Amino acid sequence: MSTPERPGGPDEQPLQVIGQLAGGIAHDFNNILGVIINYARFASGSLPPGSPAHDDIEEIRRAAERGVGLVRQLMILARREAGTAVVFDLNELISGLDGFLRSTIGAHIQVERRLREGLWPIADDPARIEQILINLAVNARDAMPGGGVLTFETENVEIGAGETLASPNVQPGRFVRLLVSDTGTGMDSEVAARAFEPMFTTKASGQGTGLGLATVYTIVTQSGGMIDLSSEPGLGTSVEIHLPAAEGGVAQATRPTQAAPAGRGESILITEDDIAVRRVAERILESAGYSVRSAGGGTEALDLLDDPSVEVDLLLADLVMPGMRGDDLARRAVAMRPGLNVLFMSGYSDQAPPTDLGPTAGRVDFIDKPFDAGTLLERLRELLA
Ligand SMILES: Nc1ncnc2c1ncn2[C@@H]1O[C@H](COP(=O)(O)OP(=O)(O)OP(=O)(O)O)[C@@H](O)[C@H]1O
Ligand SMILES: [Mg+2]
Repeated sequence: MSTPERPGGPDEQPLQVIGQLAGGIAHDFNNILGVIINYARFASGSLPPGSPAHDDIEEIRRAAERGVGLVRQLMILARREAGTAVVFDLNELISGLDGFLRSTIGAHIQVERRLREGLWPIADDPARIEQILINLAVNARDAMPGGGVLTFETENVEIGAGETLASPNVQPGRFVRLLVSDTGTGMDSEVAARAFEPMFTTKASGQGTGLGLATVYTIVTQSGGMIDLSSEPGLGTSVEIHLPAAEGGVAQATRPTQAAPAGRGESILITEDDIAVRRVAERILESAGYSVRSAGGGTEALDLLDDPSVEVDLLLADLVMPGMRGDDLARRAVAMRPGLNVLFMSGYSDQAPPTDLGPTAGRVDFIDKPFDAGTLLERLRELLA
């Protein structure tokens, strides 16, 4: 393969503009997409099996999921999303992608994995690292319309001070090396030189937005890692990524998605100002066997909590609401009802979900918006266990 391109990285100026625009609409946009995704599921679930409308609804759901992915990439690019770091095993994350690869990549592409045993764990947000894997896999797929081989390789490497010189923000030390390569069309040197630019794409409109590699680049550099690209027209492309190994710490299992667990009649108080999102949450929880009360804002929720005849095991609250914020509501709620569990729903905002609500709080967690029924129910089960 040709000499590796050392990417200069995305230009900061347009990214700031993208960030401001995206930040302004991401919260509302995600609420809208969440409503579409969940109603598509409800509609599909109420159709007789074999109905031709299933496929149409599935297309609606998929388009909305693409929208969610796009917002996510914009927020990463705009550096508005920091993510939550845990220590985990990259090999496990790659293996867990099996189902995604089978459904997205297609049978004409063979997927190979050469994963080093005893790989050092990394400390990062698994969702962000998964985004890297997905973006690279999708690029590889697009580059191999006639089939080929997509390979994921991992290994441990120590990098000395001399080797990180080209990346002044990278500290020398122990790294996990990830290589994602394909046997596709490759890129000529002009395309390769621009590949990391945001909004640079050679794909037809609707097929690509040109944010994939820019997002990968941003995630890697924010993680203190390095990225290189090498490509040869007609032969293929490989992207080499070095992510810093975690200092100490034992890898936690990245959780595979399981069948949605049901409620056991526990009482949930939903507080959400967006009426469509509130209805979606009500419907998910009621059909899963929870007893549901809902409020359109903090004051209304506190009134309910003040009534001793209203049972509440868990408060499911939007973090960003006009009037009383979700965290203010939760602080007052746990003071009124010691032991109350709280699950915050958070879209993109500059406000991080609080983890400490004081000594009277029960368990506290948060869920990203938009959520689907499975994730919401899983999170509730964990909190109510
Ligand atoms: N594996 C690859 N093989 C060949 N060309 C690639 C590969 N990966 C990226 N490219 C080229 O780099 C361009 C930019 O890639 P990038 O992932 O940033 O955007 P995209 O794939 O066009 O759109 P998006 O990822 O936003 O859907 C692509 O349009 C393509 O020309
Ligand atoms: Mg792409």
